[in-house]
Amino acid sequence: MWQQRCTRSAFGTVLSSVLFLLALFCYVEGEQIVIKGGTVTNADGQLVADVLIENGKIAKVQKDLKVPPGARLLDASGQYVMPGGIDPHTHLEMPFMGQVACDDFFSGQAAALAGGTTMHIDFALPTKGDLMQGFHDYQKKAAKACMDYGFHMAVTSWSAKVAADMATLVKKGINSFKFFLAYKGALMVTDEEFLQGLQKCREIGAIAQVHAENGEAVAVGQKRIFEAGITGPEGHALSRPSFLEGEATSRAVRLARFVNTPLYVVHTMSIDAVEEVARARARGQRVIGEPVASALSLNETAMWNPDFKIAAAAVMSPPIRAASHRVKIKEALAGGLLQLVATDHAVFNSTQKAVGKGDFRVIPNGVNGIEERLHVVWEEMVNSGLITPSDFVRITSTAAAQIFNLYPRKGVIAPGSDADVILLDPKVEHHISAATHHSRIDTNVYEGKRIMGKVVVTISRGRIVWENGNLNVTPGTGRFVEMLPMGPLFEGLDILDQEAMHPLGTTPVHHTHAKDEL
Ligand code: URP
Ligand code: ZN
Ligand code: ZN
Repeated sequence: MWQQRCTRSAFGTVLSSVLFLLALFCYVEGEQIVIKGGTVTNADGQLVADVLIENGKIAKVQKDLKVPPGARLLDASGQYVMPGGIDPHTHLEMPFMGQVACDDFFSGQAAALAGGTTMHIDFALPTKGDLMQGFHDYQKKAAKACMDYGFHMAVTSWSAKVAADMATLVKKGINSFKFFLAYKGALMVTDEEFLQGLQKCREIGAIAQVHAENGEAVAVGQKRIFEAGITGPEGHALSRPSFLEGEATSRAVRLARFVNTPLYVVHTMSIDAVEEVARARARGQRVIGEPVASALSLNETAMWNPDFKIAAAAVMSPPIRAASHRVKIKEALAGGLLQLVATDHAVFNSTQKAVGKGDFRVIPNGVNGIEERLHVVWEEMVNSGLITPSDFVRITSTAAAQIFNLYPRKGVIAPGSDADVILLDPKVEHHISAATHHSRIDTNVYEGKRIMGKVVVTISRGRIVWENGNLNVTPGTGRFVEMLPMGPLFEGLDILDQEAMHPLGTTPVHHTHAKDEL
């Protein structure tokens, strides 16, 4: 239709183009919105104030704001007004273990917005080992995006080309690279490759991320458990115990220390991993620990459920652990030993998970969470009294913005920041269910979970996209957000480099030699 009209006349072409650009401009700019009477909650504190949004940005935060004529008014009394969530760990439309994750960049992001997350950082995978091709393929997938997103890039092999591509990708807005120490025969890298990758990350100012499990030992564990006749999803948990996560975390932390580069440990699922992260931070090493929502709320008994569909839905790596790990992870988050909460949203529906009936080793790994994260964290951390609403903002939004060099554009309600804003009503009770969620997956690992407190409005770049239980989203309106390298975590690393070279004074030492040795 659009093309037919174009061929008719030059005037038609010009008029249509102008109308299209006008529509796009109106969409991008959004409407003028005033949020009245809410408790504006940032990571550093709260105040009761009004918020003016215009041109997709936060324009003012102050008491008793006048409502400009024509502006949309939202009454937020009794509600928290917070920066939209940033989920730093998702896998939309990811090809993995012979399947493709069933949420794409539209369905996954629509679900995110319904749960108050306004930006996510997805893991682009190389295509046949090629990072640039992988990046282009993920750009194509993301053409249907309806909210802001960024990419991390996975590095699954090593060569001069991989190193060069990492440097190119940094110029294109990627400032983090993930290395898998697990998934032998698929995504796993060797220690040598990991070390090369760490060095390259340091050189280009990108954050190295690590999936920390000992992949060699996991492969042995899987064979041992399967040959013992345990073929169901509980075999997944049994075959990769928490100390294999602890070992790999310890190794990654020490190699990053050797290279003197920041390390971000994704999905810390166990006490073992938390202890390694905490120990490193206690000696001043720049290590970030990222637990995921499932680790705060669930425990491994899900994989023992006699219903294969329920048990398989909970299969992810590293596995969801025994309840004692959950307690420790929540305490570590509250105490600042862990820094932020992600989801690792990687969803495979029950027919996809069913390929692993009779062999847990081939159940596609991954659980949902992009829509549930804020509610799960609110329930588990704020309603339990462990953290304040400001801490909630820190671990669901601000910390991610700071770590990935997006702050203060994202992660804060302040003049000049992107108008990614949520209204959370602490008095609304609801239950999580696959029957009502917005993801394409037909199960929900949080099925039936009661939550007190609900995101009632989501504003994405100045547009109300979620209100009164209704989504108003359009494919193709999402935006790739470039993240610059050499972020705050890289400040002053050269001082430590110098320190490592000269711990006892000037080097090289000019050694003297006795005359008869000359
Ligand atoms: O089980 C998981 N975590 N699936 C997604 C891939 C990964 O390791 O992050
Ligand atoms: Zn992983
Ligand atoms: Zn992941």
